[in-house]
Order: sequence, then C-alpha cells, then structure tokens
Amino acid sequence: MYILGIESSCDESAAAIIKVNAKNNDFQVLSNIIASQIDIHKKYGGVIPEIAAREHVLNILPVINESLVKAQIEAKDLDLLAVTQGPGLITSLITGVETVRSLAYAWHKPLAAINHIKGHIYANFIDSATKIRFPAIVLTVSGGHTILILMEKDNKLKILGKTRDDAAGEAFDKGAKMLGLSYPGGPIIARYAQEYQNQLKKQKINNKKYKAGKITLPRPMIHSKNYDFSFSGLKTALLYQLQKDKNWKDKIPAYCFEYQQAIIDILVNKTIRAAKKYSAKSVMLSGGVSANDELRYQLEQAVKTKFNSVSFFIPRKEYTTDNAAMIAMAAFYKYKDNNLTNYQELKAEASLQL
Ligand code: KG4
Ligand code: ZN
Repeated sequence: MYILGIESSCDESAAAIIKVNAKNNDFQVLSNIIASQIDIHKKYGGVIPEIAAREHVLNILPVINESLVKAQIEAKDLDLLAVTQGPGLITSLITGVETVRSLAYAWHKPLAAINHIKGHIYANFIDSATKIRFPAIVLTVSGGHTILILMEKDNKLKILGKTRDDAAGEAFDKGAKMLGLSYPGGPIIARYAQEYQNQLKKQKINNKKYKAGKITLPRPMIHSKNYDFSFSGLKTALLYQLQKDKNWKDKIPAYCFEYQQAIIDILVNKTIRAAKKYSAKSVMLSGGVSANDELRYQLEQAVKTKFNSVSFFIPRKEYTTDNAAMIAMAAFYKYKDNNLTNYQELKAEASLQL
C-alpha cells in the first residue's frame, strides 16, 4: 500500500510517500520532501507564527505534488492520507489539516490523523520495525517536547515522564541565543562543542589552557526519583555565568561543550534508569535533538555498557527533525488498528495529548 504523509506543525512544510509491504513489515520511503523556513525565521531568532502560516500556504501544494512526482506515483494509487493533527502552532497545523481534508474528499481516500510526537517515535520503525523488541523505552526530544515513554507493544504507549518547563531543543535554542548564536541553536552548539573537543584532543600539551577555561554547569533533576526533566534552571545557570564572566566571548566553544554535555548527561541518565526499571529490550531515541551526534553516541554507548542484550535504535538523520515520512509511518500503525478519521470530523489541535 502507498501512504501520503503531510506535516506542517511548526516551520517545515513536508510531504512524503511510503510504500508498505504489510506482510513482512517492510517500509520504503519513496519520497521525503521538506520545504524548510529556517532561513526566514533565522532573521528573527525564532519561529514567527504569522510568517510560518503564510509560508505553509505557499508551500504545501507544491510539496505534495513534488512528493508524488519523486515517488513516480499518481494520486489514484494512494491508499491512505495522513496528516499531523497536533501538537504544534495552530496557525501552522491548519494548513496541513485543511489541505488533507480537501484531498481526502476530492480523491475519496481514507485519512489518518497523527500526533506529531507519535510521528517522531515511529520514525524509528521506518528502518527497524522488524528488529524492535518490547518493552521499549523511547526518549523523544524535540524543540517542543521532552518525553520518556514506555512502549509495551507497537501501538501501546505510556508516558513515564516529561519536561516540567523547557524542552531539550528549546534549551539548546535559548542557550544559543544567550551565547549570541543563530537559530536553531542545537546544531550550532553541537558544532562549537565538537570544535572544543577537537581542540582538547589536538593540543594535549596545551591542555591546561582549556582546562582553565572549563565551565561547570548544573544537571537539574538528574538524580530525582521520577522520570521528569527540567531545563530552565540550566538555562538560568548559563545566564548567570555569562553575566559574571567578562571574557565569555573568547570561550564560546567551552561554554557550548559544557552546556551540551549537561543536557546529554540528564537525558542519558534518566533513559538508562527507565530501561533498567522496566526491563526494556530496546531503547529508542527520536525527535529533532536526536540529530545530535554526541547524544546519539553517548546514549548508544551507555546502553551497550549497562546492558547485555538491549538493542538501541535511532532514526536516520533525515528522519530526526520534522519530516513527513515519520507521519506516514505512524499512519500505518493507526491503519492497522482500524483507527482512521472521517475527513468531516478532523480538526487541528494545538495541544493534542499523546
Ligand atoms: O523535532 P523538531 O524538528 O521540531 C519540533 O518538533 O520541535 O526539533 C527541532 C529542535 C530544535 O530545537 C533544534 O535546535 C534541535 O531540534 N536540533 C538539535 C540538533 N538539530 C536540531 N539539537 C541538538 N543538536 C542537533 N544537532
Ligand atoms: Zn518535531
């Protein structure tokens, strides 16, 4: 079967087509088209909802068309349409939802309404559906969400904990802003952190110089007994340190390194603890922040060293930040459960719960 997925929850208008061979759980992404607005929002240091909404209106149909052309199929070949219903910016969500409602009506196709966070989770299933064993612990980290989930079966999710304030991606973005860096902050902080690590490696003799510039930031809630997160204290700690440090501009790589490591330590620690407690057979990472190479590496290493036979999964990089292949993928599991939505009843929901 062929599924068209559509995503417009924030600043990415995306459409993708996946081919599903349900008999052997084989999924092939035929096209994965993304019109990113990052260059537009960069100027403002963050997403401006009004501008995002206008861009979605301009981009959504060309993106859908391109996904069909690239996949070399026609609308009549599609078996299912899928769209992100929420959570996200309501003015962004509306474009995707209303477009798919119209297409479902005009093309006489069934429709699946997808929770954006589930999309991120199922991104892992694109390449690994047959390998994932349950129970699984899933850490979903994005610009809007930080959630630790227990997945008992491929369609049974239980939230173990979430952030009480900022999301991990938001912490990256806000930290970057304080350091005078551009938007989105995650990839930029990651680059500086890598630079710092390279400096440390290269200049072994000169190590002291960097040690002297080493910054120490807190790891809020790292030892709390629950599975919740809090990143606003880390952000404030960074602000206070910058205010005290006259020379912080000369130490941006060191600040980025420590800030990123603080976020990674918290995420890895809680995920490993949940995997132990629930005797997980798999650990999965997903969401925009899972594009972070150090987080990918460090969580994988922690899983490998702490457990003997727990498998670790991460989506390919192109399925980490917002995309529509993950929405089409999540739609397959809704279809399997016979959980489709009538186009007349579909409504975008900014605060849709998992
Ligand atoms: O999943 P996503 O594309 O959108 C939301 O659903 O929010 O995630 C975007 C977030 C941004 O906060 C961005 O800074 C972060 O993912 N991000 C990263 C990296 N690439 C994107 N954070 C850390 N390291 C990265 N390499
Ligand atoms: Zn997302």
